[in-house]
Amino acid sequence: AATGARPADLAGRHILVTAGPTHEPIDPVRVIANRSSGKQGFAIAGALARRGARVSLVAGPVSLPTPAGVDRIDVETAEQMKAAVETALPADAAVLVAAVADWRVESAGSKLKKADGPPQLRWTENPDILAGLAASDDRPALLVGFAAETQNVVEAAKTKRLRKGCDWIVANDVSGDVMGGERNRVHIVSSGEVESWEEAPKDVVASRLAERIAIHLTRADR
Ligand code: CTP
Ligand code: CA
Repeated sequence: AATGARPADLAGRHILVTAGPTHEPIDPVRVIANRSSGKQGFAIAGALARRGARVSLVAGPVSLPTPAGVDRIDVETAEQMKAAVETALPADAAVLVAAVADWRVESAGSKLKKADGPPQLRWTENPDILAGLAASDDRPALLVGFAAETQNVVEAAKTKRLRKGCDWIVANDVSGDVMGGERNRVHIVSSGEVESWEEAPKDVVASRLAERIAIHLTRADR
């Protein structure tokens, strides 16, 4: 049957993707959440699978179908996401698109009651999955982070890339209606020149990024 010509240049590669938000419980019925639809990360997982990669997609709470050919691991909290990422290793590349909650709160075992007044939440910092992966013995050869910024997008991403120890940062300007939307405008920040891509549907951004990853991994093999 004619399946159409599709580059399988990621065949034999294992690529880890995180996507969506994390939810940090306050009590059994309430959470602190980050704003993320998961669309861009899911599109990237699908695009990598279409090029032949084995894809492990660690997904926070989203309402999206699993892309064809992708192994999906559902999690809720940042700590669960970190554990699932570590379980999925080793990987040839990792693309961490998830909007991880930076903090969690000491959660109550039973439901807080309104009559008791606004709760005093005790905050703790969550583990940084990307920075941890960058510093680990299992570091994927290509480590890609995302950064949603509203101001000084490229400058913030350059600083973030060095601070986190990843290879590329895909910086997106979320000052418009990107969150939950269908389109994205990104800048690829690496050790070389910054590439600014024109605004495009999230699945187009995903395909381009998958292609760039395939080219990079193929070159690194030579
Ligand atoms: N990230 C992560 N674990 C965290 C926080 C962030 O893995 N606890 C990853 C995200 O998936 C993303 C990258 O790190 O790939 C950048 O996330 P971002 O929130 O922009 O970075 P922060 O260091 O948390 O900086 P900020 O203060 O701007 O939120
Ligand atoms: Ca953050």
